[in-house]
Amino acid sequence: MNRIMAPDLQMHRRREVRASAPRALPRRLGGLLGAVLALGAAAAEPELSVTVGGRMATYAPAALLGLPDATTITVRNDVAYKRDMSYHAVPMAALLKGVAAEESIRFVARDGFAATLPAAPLLSQGEGAIAYIAVETPDAPWPALKAGDAASAGPFYLVWLRPERSGIVPEQWPYQIARIESVAPLGRRYPSLLPGAGLSVRDPARRGFRVFEKNCSVCHTLNLGGDAAVGPDLNVPYNPTEYMRVDALRRLIRDPQSLRRWPGARMPGFSSAVLSDRDLNDLLAYLRNMADRKVPVPVAK
Ligand code: HEC
Repeated sequence: MNRIMAPDLQMHRRREVRASAPRALPRRLGGLLGAVLALGAAAAEPELSVTVGGRMATYAPAALLGLPDATTITVRNDVAYKRDMSYHAVPMAALLKGVAAEESIRFVARDGFAATLPAAPLLSQGEGAIAYIAVETPDAPWPALKAGDAASAGPFYLVWLRPERSGIVPEQWPYQIARIESVAPLGRRYPSLLPGAGLSVRDPARRGFRVFEKNCSVCHTLNLGGDAAVGPDLNVPYNPTEYMRVDALRRLIRDPQSLRRWPGARMPGFSSAVLSDRDLNDLLAYLRNMADRKVPVPVAK
């Protein structure tokens, strides 16, 4: 758990993924290339390509900030910079028009690093967390991410207001974004997540899957299906409905620290403002349904 907890290590892991190409160049050649790139920089403005809902659009920073929803936001305790930051930004919802809540959105960074998030929290504009694309502009460049390396989190960076309300974790703040694309819904990419096909349309377990997808899949896999790796799998080897009393499980979801308490705990509570009583009931119906639908667990060697 500690490894996941420490923000510094988290960033370190990302940097390792990101370090590759420029580092491998011999110094002289790197310098030469740098000069050539710098010459070209004035002409080649950074661009963000957005491929969602069957259409592709490309935006330069000025074009993004010219959108009617563009605004200025203050992000408390920014994940990349570890302090309060002020950004020119566009709400994600404005860029994702036409995207369905069940879809997933993939953010691809300049170096190919990709983070896939459920669309639902990105589209949200209500009680929960709100996502923005922060835009770095040439007249107000952002600080470097680390000493000795000029690269900032820009030119495009996914930031959140009130991230704690929807359990948004540091892995869900991708930076140096080059491309945003919609990918098939989680259940299509990971059919092992789906409740039994024989259930009636009205069965609460079906709706409970949506609740899981929106609120829990950002951190938990289930039946080994999903893009997350923060919390334990919720079905294999055992489903929590098999080893926890239902009242304890409800309490854990509403307020994990009221059941078990330790400083390194990471799971956020889901208040009734975020997860209604009906949502919680349906979610538990889904979990119970999945307990009978386990995939085999690979045997550790
Ligand atoms: C921000 C990430 C995150 C989100 C979102 C999240 N969890 Fe968790 N969950 C964790 C982590 C991490 C743990 C391990 C304990 C800890 O560190 O808090 C955990 C533990 C649990 C446990 C206890 C498992 C055990 O046997 O100890 C259950 C049950 C659980 N989560 C269910 C859920 C459900 C249901 C949702 C959606 C409503 C959810 N979690 C949302 C991160 C998350």
